[in-house]
This record gives sequence, structure tokens and C-alpha cells, in this order.
Amino acid sequence: MIDRLQTIFKNAEVSIADAADFKSIDDIRVKYLGKSGELTEILKGLNQVSADLRPQVGKVSNEIKNKIAELLDQKKEDLDSKVNQSAIPGWDPTLPGRKSVIGKMHPLMTVQKEIADIFKNLGFDVAEGPDLETDYYNFLALNFPPDHPARDAQDTFYVKNRVLRTHTSPIQVREMEKRKPPFKFIAPGRVYRNEAIDATHHHIFHQVEGFLVDEGVQFSHLKGVLDVFIKKFFGAEVKTRFRPSFFPFTEPSAEMDISCVFCKGEGCRICKQSGWVEMMGCGMIDPVVLKNCGIDDEKWTGFAFGMGVERIALFKYGIDDIRLFYQNDIRFLDEF
Ligand code: PHE
Repeated sequence: MIDRLQTIFKNAEVSIADAADFKSIDDIRVKYLGKSGELTEILKGLNQVSADLRPQVGKVSNEIKNKIAELLDQKKEDLDSKVNQSAIPGWDPTLPGRKSVIGKMHPLMTVQKEIADIFKNLGFDVAEGPDLETDYYNFLALNFPPDHPARDAQDTFYVKNRVLRTHTSPIQVREMEKRKPPFKFIAPGRVYRNEAIDATHHHIFHQVEGFLVDEGVQFSHLKGVLDVFIKKFFGAEVKTRFRPSFFPFTEPSAEMDISCVFCKGEGCRICKQSGWVEMMGCGMIDPVVLKNCGIDDEKWTGFAFGMGVERIALFKYGIDDIRLFYQNDIRFLDEF
């Protein structure tokens, strides 16, 4: 019996070695291991083998069965790799792989994220608000008098009884209504203004708003935070300065300039020879706005700022036309 098993194995071994295609491998598998294969038959007939031989015959048959299965698998693998290497016409495994094209962030979103990350590291939380706003959040709560020119149909897109937000400042109001001070937030978002499109204007653009409310907050805190932000974003050598300005929702208000990143303040075409470029609006949150949001303006003070993402991206990348960001020309986007 054992001899017979040995012979079966030898035969199987030889035919596996000779097999040259997948079909012969399958045939061999059926012949030896199939339902009525030679080995299976022996295992089926084990109960007819005398009791003292049975354990040994069983053991050897199983060993042989496993061995044959192993040889068959091995042979199949060998054939597989041969087919891959030579049988497919034109297949050359030594050629370098083709790089797959993967999408990436739009440069504006990259800049927006970089801005947000700097403020997040300073402990600011992130807030968002709706693009379609009510007059109350976009204007009234922010202390825009009813006849303020920014409400003029020239600047604002009206959609039924709503407005497409003209700035991210309404997010200040929405958050301040919900929270108890102290808090600090940044709020990135898309904003809309009914403006003619040119190299520096677009009717859709992006802003990052920031605001902080706490006890004893002063203008110097605002200057400090923005100076840290600019130095982190543009480099430690870039200087900041603050000029008086006006916004209905901040008092006092300021415009922050930075020393021109192109000429390092020497004076060039971009900064119109002044050495400075305007970066963002800011100021101390007007107590009227705090009151509108249910915050005790005797106890709490705060600052706010709002910057245009496109403008910052132009300076970061040295681009002179905002329209490039919206044309989705893959050659432009691939530069980033
Ligand atoms: N919302 C102002 C704008 O769009 C910017 C700003 C934000 C100014 C916060 C002061 C404080 O121009």
C-alpha cells in the first residue's frame, strides 16, 4: 500500500514537472486530488485497510496529498510569472511605471489653509457661516446704518430677501450670539460683491475673518497677533504698520500694511514705489456690535480683522492677475 502511494507521488511529481500550461495543471489536480482522483480513492478506501496499517497509510496519503497540492501551486506560480514576463506581447517589466495623476488642492485653498493653520496654532478655533445671509447678519448687526453705501445694489447681490454675504464679518455676529466670552475664532469663507472683473477684482473671492473677545483686550493685542501672523506667513523680515481707517463694526478701525514683499520695502511697481502694500482691515470690535450680540460691553472688549485670501495669494506667489485663480487652466494650477 505504502509502495503504491509512493508510486502515485512519483508519477504526479513527473507530470507536474512536465506540465507546460494551466490546463495540464488542472488535469493533474483532477487526476490525483479530484473527487475520484487516485489519492482520494485511497483515502476513501481507508476503512478496508487493516487496522494496524490504517494510521500509517492515512498519514502518508495525507502527506502526499499536501505535497502534490503544494507542487501544483508552485508550478502555477511559475507559469504565471512566465506569462507576465514574456507571453503578453509588448509587455516589458523593466520599463519604469507610469505615474498616476492625482488631484491636489487649489492654490487659493492652500493659502487659506496656511492662514488658518497659523491662527489655529495661536489657539483660535474655526467657525463657518452661510453664504446666503440675511440683511441683519451681513449689515444691521454689524452697525451698518441703513443708508450705508456698501448696501447699495452696486456692491451687494440680492437673492429674494437675502444677500450673498459681502464679507465674512457676519460670522462674527453668529458666533458671538452663541458663545460666552472669552473666545477667539477665525472664519474663512467665500464672499460676493457685484463688481466688474479685472486684474484685482472678482465678484467671488475669499476672506479669512478673525476675532477675539476677552477681558482687557487692547489695540496692542491686535497689533501683536497680526504682526506674528504676517511674520509667520511672509517671513520674519516683513514689517507691519497700521493706518487709521473706518469700518462700521470696529472702533477704532485700521488698515494694516506690510512692507512690500517684492522689493523688501525699497519701492517697486507693485507697491507703487511706496515700499508698503495694504494687507487687511481690522480694529477693536465696536461696543454696539458686542451689545447686538448680547455681550456685556462694559466687561468685555475684543478685536477683529478680515483679510482677502486672493490678495495674500497674489503676494505669496508673485502673481499679478486674480483672474488666473478662476480660469482653471491646468497649466497654471500645475505650477503649485
Ligand atoms: N469686513 C471687512 C471687509 O470686508 C474687513 C474687516 C473685518 C474689517 C474685520 C475690520 C474687522 O472689508
